[in-house]
Amino acid sequence: MIKNKKQIDEIISKFIGKKGSLIPLMQEIQNIERYLSIDTMRYLSEKSGVKLAEIYGVATFYTMFKLKPQGKHIVRICKGTACHVSGANSIARSLKQELNLKDNEDTTKDGLFTIMEVACLGCCSLAPVIMIDDNTYGKLTPDSVVDILKKYN
Ligand code: FES
Repeated sequence: MIKNKKQIDEIISKFIGKKGSLIPLMQEIQNIERYLSIDTMRYLSEKSGVKLAEIYGVATFYTMFKLKPQGKHIVRICKGTACHVSGANSIARSLKQELNLKDNEDTTKDGLFTIMEVACLGCCSLAPVIMIDDNTYGKLTPDSVVDILKKYN
């Protein structure tokens, strides 16, 4: 089932017939739905006339597209060299413990947070660093990162 059909229809009508518009179109839909479900991709295919296989191929090729539901807040944990040597692993452990995430899980059951490990976030002097949505937090400790999480709901 597609939740935001009306908004998706508006996005499709904005892009339809424009060359090279499939990726931005898919991005805008993902921004609303927070991921691309197979139902959404099928609907997009029916509405746009683009083959489902092509849409699915684009969605699986580019890492920016998510095929699983993402949390309301995206937590990026830097595992670059400076952060690694400054304790990124203990920050990640603390985050996972606070969010009740098992090793193979990345999204909380309440859908509030998705965590992901990334390479350098470009502010190594603040190591260890995380980003939550567009906000950067540095010089973290396993305790301070728990306090930061509490600001988000
Ligand atoms: S290594 Fe983490 S910000 Fe550069």
